[in-house]
Amino acid sequence: MSHISTPFRSVISGCGHYLPDNVITNEELSKTVDTSHQWIVERTGIHQRQFALEGQLTSDLAFEASKRALEKAGVDAKELDLIVVATATPDVTFPSTGTRLQAKLGNITGLAFDVAAVCAGYLLALNVADNFLKLGQSKTALVVGAETLSRLLDMQDRRTCVLFGDGAGAVVLKAVPSDQTDRGVIGIHMQSDGNFHDILYADGGVSSTGTRGKVYMEGREVFRHAVTKLAASAEKTLCDYKIDPEDLDWLIPHQANLRIIEGMAKKLNMSMEKVITTVQHHANTSAASIPLALSHAVEKGQVKEGDLILHEAIGGGLVWGSGLVRF
Ligand code: UT7
Repeated sequence: MSHISTPFRSVISGCGHYLPDNVITNEELSKTVDTSHQWIVERTGIHQRQFALEGQLTSDLAFEASKRALEKAGVDAKELDLIVVATATPDVTFPSTGTRLQAKLGNITGLAFDVAAVCAGYLLALNVADNFLKLGQSKTALVVGAETLSRLLDMQDRRTCVLFGDGAGAVVLKAVPSDQTDRGVIGIHMQSDGNFHDILYADGGVSSTGTRGKVYMEGREVFRHAVTKLAASAEKTLCDYKIDPEDLDWLIPHQANLRIIEGMAKKLNMSMEKVITTVQHHANTSAASIPLALSHAVEKGQVKEGDLILHEAIGGGLVWGSGLVRF
């Protein structure tokens, strides 16, 4: 599918992120499970993660990131007509964390809901919101990835407990007439294959065990799928929208493992100088990781208006995809 002309484009007019204060270092984890700073850094690139404080909810993290994104965009929360939250760790089973966030933001006129695609959640949320905006169904949207993954970790399982962290990232999208800008979401391609359910999941749920469960992952298998599926998805997206990898200013991938990110950069023939990596500082924050990395890079003055960005992500489902955004 090539680029279809639509009345509007979804332009990112501000982004923000939030990480809880509670920093957990590799050294701290190695006191309670059989691991080491050296193993974690060599295999993942991760140096530390942040865990939400007791009583701090996913919607609280989402609220902090959203406030910052709205401020940067110069948008009042009351102006939002759409709020899409990507999370695998909702405050409650229902209603959505999106509606909790909407209430915290003081918005009563928009539509808020969640999407569930775990680590690929932000890209899916962006894809959904973009479709609302492109067709004129929404004018000003907030897209948030927010997680308290620490609540799903078995802190005795060294294969998973060192990998994840909590955080949130948010972007404000504005619908701008297509003939007035070349900025905005260019295109997103998402895919899933439920046959791989068992290689990455939380082993609990309302209709199965009645418990929330803990993260289970066959790391090596997920790694293998990540490398091949992300490369194929990126290739398809670049080809569909006729973008040469050389024209990309930035790769801002899901932040799960530095080795996967480096592998992707190599496949795209991109120097690591053009790749935003924040996994070192906050580990894998699932749906929050891409908007977190984007916001961090904008704050540091790396990503600038007009830059062409490729995003890619894979997570439980498996669900994966990639997308192009002119910032
Ligand atoms: O965000 C969703 C997508 N998720 C991902 O993309 C994650 C994909 N997977 C990965 O990032 C990597 O597979 C891991 C970081 C999870 C694991 O790295 P690996 O290089 O694939 O290690 P491995 O699973 O093959 O394990 C190697 C060894 C094993 O020991 P034996 O069997 O060789 O004796 C593990 O038991 O490392 C051991 N090990 C550890 N050792 C110290 C596993 N976890 C740890 C640990 N500390 N934390």
